[in-house]
Amino acid sequence: MTRAIARRCSRMSLYLAPLVTLSVILHVAGARAESVQDSGALRGDVENGKALFKDYTCYGCHGYTGETGRGPRLNPPRLNQDRFIAYLRNPPNPRQMPPYQQSDVSDQKLADIYTFLQSLPSGSPEAESIPVLSEILRETPR
Ligand code: HEC
Repeated sequence: MTRAIARRCSRMSLYLAPLVTLSVILHVAGARAESVQDSGALRGDVENGKALFKDYTCYGCHGYTGETGRGPRLNPPRLNQDRFIAYLRNPPNPRQMPPYQQSDVSDQKLADIYTFLQSLPSGSPEAESIPVLSEILRETPR
């Protein structure tokens, strides 16, 4: 019995070793990419960002805290600052998410909005972290 488990464990570690190595490599590569981007990142202003989030009607589709509405959740931001700005300039579905051009809203203003989103406390936990919801998610065919 215990030997069977031990055998299974050692077989599992055979599979896991390359995965762990890979994740370490990806992590290091990711950290390096991030630090390069950070050095060029714009410093945003939370208060400006809050006002701009309203002025540009982002709240209309994403909710005042970026957590509700028909658009996807923006809090916490899924994209880094560069990708966030690039996304807003050229969203893949412009009929759902309106593009915001440089002439309408500068990179600095988008950085302010981004910083505002980053500053928000994340009010609602992920559905997966709530036992009954994660059970429903698991049982719902997708
Ligand atoms: C008319 C409604 C609408 C407005 C206004 C709007 N959005 Fe969106 N936004 C959407 C929808 C819908 C999507 C999802 C589009 C898709 O799935 O292709 C989206 C996607 C996004 C995403 C990508 C999120 C992700 O995780 O993939 C970001 C970032 C975003 N919006 C930011 C903003 C910001 C900042 C503003 C204001 C400057 C704004 N949006 C205004 C509807 C809107």
